[in-house]
Amino acid sequence: MQRRIHVLDDAEALARAAADWIVDRLQQEPPLPRAMSVALAGGSTPRLLYRRLAQSPYRERVAWGRVEVFWGDERCVPPTHPESNYAMAREMLLDRVPIPAERIHRVRGELEPERAAALYQRELTDVLEGVPPQPPRIDLVLLGMGADGHTASLFPGDDVLHESSRLAAVAHAPTPPQARVTLTLPVLNAARHVLFMVQGQEKAATLARVLTMESAGPDPSLPATLIRPLGGELVWMVDGAAAGGHRG
Ligand code: 6PG
Repeated sequence: MQRRIHVLDDAEALARAAADWIVDRLQQEPPLPRAMSVALAGGSTPRLLYRRLAQSPYRERVAWGRVEVFWGDERCVPPTHPESNYAMAREMLLDRVPIPAERIHRVRGELEPERAAALYQRELTDVLEGVPPQPPRIDLVLLGMGADGHTASLFPGDDVLHESSRLAAVAHAPTPPQARVTLTLPVLNAARHVLFMVQGQEKAATLARVLTMESAGPDPSLPATLIRPLGGELVWMVDGAAAGGHRG
């Protein structure tokens, strides 16, 4: 696992760097005989990134018709709910780029959580190549991190951290909306390229612990340290406020 840490001046610089990183990895030369897959992050940090990807020159540099879009996690709310990660990505990106509707694979947050997780897992296995029991490999996974060290909807102390066979499962957040559906560690760690985006001074202490722990080893009390794409690339892009004293 290659790990790199980039410290950017501010949120806009982070969004630009992340957009460059994503476009660079989506632009396979020569193009692959298959579509590229991306799992989007939720929360607020990716908003600037998604808006930038929908603008020139990034909009024109991605073959949107050959991108399969998933989510790393979703809140169990309807797709029009203000807390929906799908709704945010639609507003900031997906309604602004020429991506076919059939390439957008949302978690059906309006359904009972276990059913939503089961349907999402089926869609993952239908769309992504994978040779069971190996999990399917998502090309790009975008992640954020909470001040408690959670990522996607993998929260400290949740049983879902120990899920070893399902690709998507119900998770429990400490704050509303509590019921979530999340990709599980087997599929997150099978990814080819993983990008963490972290910004804000309120995350500096946790980020310092996570980046230190990553070298020391996984710690379930800091779920972000459990993201270890052994056959892939792990990149952190953080702003100066989150980096505190850390300098790459
Ligand atoms: C979610 C995200 C979650 C998020 C972190 C950071 O559904 O909320 O998947 O893991 O990335 O909580 O959120 P912010 O970017 O809003 O700080």
